[in-house]
Amino acid sequence: MTPAITEYATREALMQATAERITRALGGAIAQRGAACAALSGGATPVPAYRLHAGAKLDWPKVTFALVDERFVPPDDAASNEGLVRRELKPAFDGGARFIPMYAPHTLGEAGDAANALYAPLTFDIVLMGMGVDGHTASWFPGAAKLGEALDMDNPRSVLSLTAPQAEGSPERLTLTRAALTRASRLILLIAGEEKRARLEAALAGDWAPAAALFAPALPEPEILWAP
Ligand code: 6PG
Repeated sequence: MTPAITEYATREALMQATAERITRALGGAIAQRGAACAALSGGATPVPAYRLHAGAKLDWPKVTFALVDERFVPPDDAASNEGLVRRELKPAFDGGARFIPMYAPHTLGEAGDAANALYAPLTFDIVLMGMGVDGHTASWFPGAAKLGEALDMDNPRSVLSLTAPQAEGSPERLTLTRAALTRASRLILLIAGEEKRARLEAALAGDWAPAAALFAPALPEPEILWAP
């Protein structure tokens, strides 16, 4: 059965709904277990949702933000996802939220190993995935040499370093593995625009793209949120 797509009439409504889901998931986790963790994607699409979420009243010292993937650039580089998250969620960090980086100033491979160690103990109350028009999600790029490793459900790693020549911002990437997403309670796939929707629908109908790999029995079923 093709997964349902929850549609919003406007991007504003889509962002509001996304922010509410993040806030609710983290608030629920704090109420239940006294701590909460969200893994967030970079890229342009989710930025307004992050701004809205940062205005929420949460017990921020109990919240940890992690990344879905990272471009292998320092946090002060315009392409950095860490930089983006720290900037757009500044009120949350000012309020005491923690951040778990993927980037480290080592070689790409060493940074991948360091991030893997940091991410191994994490469980995610919510993971916000994005998608590119080529059907990539996280840094699972079509044609990347390590794509198989990234998607391998038996991969013991949580974070992998890889190179994808077509990747925006930096071809060198750090990414959660699909196996790490088995530790997520909830997955959101946030997409906007007709082109991405058409690519996702084609991927789910059999014209495979990495985003289709999110729809696997071992993972929570992604909730697809979309606006034109
Ligand atoms: C990244 C991402 C990536 C992103 C998509 C969509 O760092 O590039 O985390 O997977 O979610 O590329 O990006 P846009 O929202 O900019 O289209």
